[in-house]
Parts: sequence; C-alpha cells; structure tokens
Amino acid sequence: MCGIVGYIGFKEAFPILLKGLKRLEYRGYDSSGVVLLEEETLQLFKKKGKVKELEQFVEGEQLAGNIGIGHTRWATHGVPNDLNAHPHLSFDGNMAMIHNGIIENYANLKQILVDNGFEFKSETDTEVLLNYIQFLKNKDLLSLEMALQQALQQVKGTYCILLLSVDEPNVLFAARKGSPLVIGIGKNEFFLASDATPLLGYTNEVFYPNNEEIIILRRHDYQVINFNGEQVTPVIQELLMEEKAIEKGGFDHYMLKEMYEQPESFTNCLRGRIQLDTGTLIKTEDIRSWVSLFQKAPRIIIVSCGSSWHAGLLGEYWIEELARIPVEVEYASEFRYRNPIIYPGDIVLAISQSGETADTLVALEKAKDQGALIFSIVNVVGSSIPRMSDAYAYTHSGPEIGVASTKTFLGQLGVLMLLAMSIAEEKNSISSERIMTLGKEMIRLPHLIEEVLKQHDHIKSVVKSYTSATDVLFLGRGYNFPIALEGALKLKEISYIHAEGYPAAEMKHGPIALVDEHLPVVFLATKDNCYEKIISNIQEIKARGGKIIALATEGDQIVPALAKDTFFLPETDELLAPFLNVIVLQLFSYEMGIQKGLDVDQPRNLAKSVTVE
Ligand code: M6R
Repeated sequence: MCGIVGYIGFKEAFPILLKGLKRLEYRGYDSSGVVLLEEETLQLFKKKGKVKELEQFVEGEQLAGNIGIGHTRWATHGVPNDLNAHPHLSFDGNMAMIHNGIIENYANLKQILVDNGFEFKSETDTEVLLNYIQFLKNKDLLSLEMALQQALQQVKGTYCILLLSVDEPNVLFAARKGSPLVIGIGKNEFFLASDATPLLGYTNEVFYPNNEEIIILRRHDYQVINFNGEQVTPVIQELLMEEKAIEKGGFDHYMLKEMYEQPESFTNCLRGRIQLDTGTLIKTEDIRSWVSLFQKAPRIIIVSCGSSWHAGLLGEYWIEELARIPVEVEYASEFRYRNPIIYPGDIVLAISQSGETADTLVALEKAKDQGALIFSIVNVVGSSIPRMSDAYAYTHSGPEIGVASTKTFLGQLGVLMLLAMSIAEEKNSISSERIMTLGKEMIRLPHLIEEVLKQHDHIKSVVKSYTSATDVLFLGRGYNFPIALEGALKLKEISYIHAEGYPAAEMKHGPIALVDEHLPVVFLATKDNCYEKIISNIQEIKARGGKIIALATEGDQIVPALAKDTFFLPETDELLAPFLNVIVLQLFSYEMGIQKGLDVDQPRNLAKSVTVE
C-alpha cells in the first residue's frame, strides 16, 4: 500500500519520479505528490486523486531539481485530500518525508510534540514521525543521521520512509521496517522505489535493504547502516524484469492483458518443473528441496489473505487428496493474533503474490519464532516473504499490475498442484499412473485455457443481462468451492456488486432465504464426483425462481437445460477443472466492471499490495 519513489543524481528528477509514480499507482491512488530539492530549497507539489491530477496540477510550474521523492497514497491516517497527501514538510519547513506503512505509537509521539509547541497541517502519522525527527535533532543538537536513528528506535509500526533536508542538500535518506524498498544503482545516481518497476529502463543493478536499515545516498556513493549505526554490506543483484512486461501491450486494461497472458504465464510456472512434452515431474534442485522439506511434515498450515487464501484452500484439498498430509488453512490476519499450536516439523506455507502483505509477513514471523519451517509461494522476486522463508517457489507469472489477481492466482494454483504431485510421488501416496495422468493433463492446460479465453465474446453478451444485479451468489462443491469464493471476490472488487461464495450444499442452512427471481446464482457445475449433487442444488434454486448461470462441461445437456445461461468448459481431470473455471469467472467480473463503466484496473478503495494491517 502506497508507492514511493526517489531519485538522486544529475538528471532532472521530476520526469523520473512521475514515471515511477505511474508505475506504482496500483499500490494506492487516493493522492500523489513530489518534493524536489534544489539549491537548498524544497519545492512541494501534491494533489488529491490519481497521478494524472498531479500532472495537471504542476503544468506550467518550474520543476527543477535533481534530487526528489514522490508518493502515491492509499489512505490510512486521515481522509484522502490535498493536506493529507504526501510528501509532508516538517514544522520548520526544512525537511520533507514520504512514508509507506503505519506508525502505531504516533498518538504518544504527537502529544510530546504538541507539548513542545509543534503544530500539524495533516492528520497523518507521517507528519508526526517527521516532526519527531526534527524535535530530536534540535533538542539534542544531533546530526540528521543520528536523529533518524534515534527516532526509528522509538517508533512502533511498519514503514519505508524517504527523507530530504535542506541542511543536507546532497543527501537522500531512506529507512525501512516491514514495508518494501528496492534501490537501483546507476552511474553517479540512485533510484528508489517500492518495487522494481520504476527502475526499469534506468538500471538493472539493485539491492533490497533489510528490515531496520537506514540507507544514506549521495550522488557518488552510498552507505547502509542498521538502527545502531553499524555498517551493513548489501547484496547487489541483477534485475531480470523487462520493461515490456509492465506495459499494456495494446490491451485496454492491465486486467485484460493479464487474463490473456495466462496460457503463457502458466506455461512459465510449469517450465523447468514438469517436462512440457511428457508431463513427467522434473527432479530439479528446486523441487527436490520442496520434497525433502515436506515429505516428513506432520502437518502443513497455509497462511495467506484474499485470493491467495482461496488458492490455499484449494491447496488443502489437493495436498490432502494426493500427498495425504493434514493441512489447515488460516487467514494470516487471524493467525497472527491467536495462539496457534505449532508442532515440531510443522511447515507454515505462505502464499502471496506481492510477497509483502503485512499480515502474512507477521504471521510467518510468529510461526518462525515458534519453531515452524517456512515455505512460501510468491510472485514478486526478491520480496520480503521469500527472503524470510526456509525455502520458496516463485509462480513466475510476471508483473501483475491490475489490482485484481488473475494470472498470479493461476500461478499459485500451478505451484500448489506441482507441490502436491511431487510430494505424492515421493511418498507413493498415489499410484504412478495417476501422477502420470495428472502430469499429462497439466501440460494440456495452457491450450485449454486458450480455448476458455475464446468464450470472451459470449461472456460479454451474457453479462449484459446482469449488470443491474445488486447481489450474486457463486456456488460450488469440492474443488470448485474455493473457485466460487474467488469468483465472488473478483465480482465484488471489480464491479462493486455484492457477491457471496458458498459451498452449494450450505445454501439450505441459511442463504437460500436470499433467493428470489432477481438473484443471479452462478453454479460451478462441471463434471466431477459431486456432479449429481450439484444438479440437485441447481434444482433447489430453480424451484425458488433464482436465475441460474452455469459453468458446465462441454457436451453436458442436463445443466444447460436447467440454466438461463451456460458457459461450456473443455473436459479435464476433475482436480484440474478449477484452472479453467476461474478464467470464466475472471472474464465475467471484468465484463461486469467494464459494462458498468468502472475502473477495473484500479477499483475504489483497493491497493495491490497490502503492506499495512
Ligand atoms: O500479495 P498477496 O497475494 O499477499 O495479497 C493478498 C490479497 O490482498 C490479494 O490476493 C487480493 O485479495 C487480490 N488483489 C484480490 O484480487
């Protein structure tokens, strides 16, 4: 949540910051702003709304300066308005700061400052932290570096901050704890950002500061210290991402592009892990390390949030079915605040697209403290979650810019299925023939996904009849139940229509009271071992007047006869049907959002990477 960018060098900073903010806008779009430092003067520009509002706001302004910081906000403390927009200036006007995260003890710090005559322009915790640094600096006549160290030792919460001061006009300070930061090293210049996308096109030499580190950047050199002032040597890495991966590539929306990338991104997830011609699992170092970690595990606890939690739920079904290891699935936000029982050898498996979700990170820290082994499934390379894991697997889905998870959800499912298959193979918990059948079908999926994408026009025309719906139910059983949950989440976030996902048989225990002739009910009714049961559930809804929209297997004649609208899916193994069914539900939500005239890439109130709890 919140995107931050910074630049120090000899180029004009503003165009670099603006481009970076556009790339980071998916992290929050309540307001944006920049500060430029030029000849010991701080020039501040900030505006409520998206980055394009800022762009219009600065038209005609002198935007000189080759040091600067920029921010795009997802509001936590204080409503989205111009005053609460970042950057913030210190009370004396000499320092400017941007921040991603939450300062939990800001109220106490603010009281100290108010007692000492400080006044505030905004309602933000960021302005409090900035003024607290100024307060310590002036009170104890400290250097800015010392004041920063001391302030951060007293602050509770999570943050990544960038700080400029007119007293140190050739320095850019950064610090992080919990919130992400990547630093790009150029020739006599540095680029800073919440993720690597703003760096593309400038440098591919980067480092990722660890928690509780302060980075002091001058044009020709840099220094990393911890909060006690001790020197740290960062690990420099090569950035492998390509610029074209973050462009829309001719599509109207990132979400659309990312849905259409799924045959390729899914192939990338399989590549090197399964023979793409025969479907045999490849015993790479990667997979061997997973298997040796998991095969003796007494239990797996999956922790994640949102769509990643839905992937985890399906992971539970698959791992228990194939590998016969007991699995529990927890919301990271609940796990972190309860007192879970963790046995020696338990594996806590985190699933996260961003690798930065605050609740998931803290849940893992807690599990680690209690002796669990940590495995993670992550998309963003070099992010915090894999860095704190004993082993990890990347989904290799490529950058996902649309706020809704689409191709990365599919990648998470891909890794979970490969994990379940490879442990099962090692443990002989299912026959080698069954593994072979699944492997062969897995490598057919990219082609089948392409076939499902061809239904886009049909889905588009069906959606026209449902755009005035105020509620939608998604019902599935077995492997399709987590997909029903995912379908409902997608619809809520993209179209703002209230939606619920339920196990179809649970309807009778309450939600069936909602059914009337106005309620669209989406049934995931592809052929599996619950097929006959779900037909009974469809009948129950139909008898009460609900409008049935069904996902059915090609050739099925029973389900379409009961439904008002049907989407047909190619036949596949029942364990793998979720890979196809979810594509229909993604397209369905996308079309609902588009036909209602909504911003599908940046839905209201959301942010892609939830780095605050
Ligand atoms: O980055 P993560 O996978 O940890 O994010 C978890 C959720 O915030 C995320 O899945 C969210 O629910 C999706 N954007 C929904 O499409």
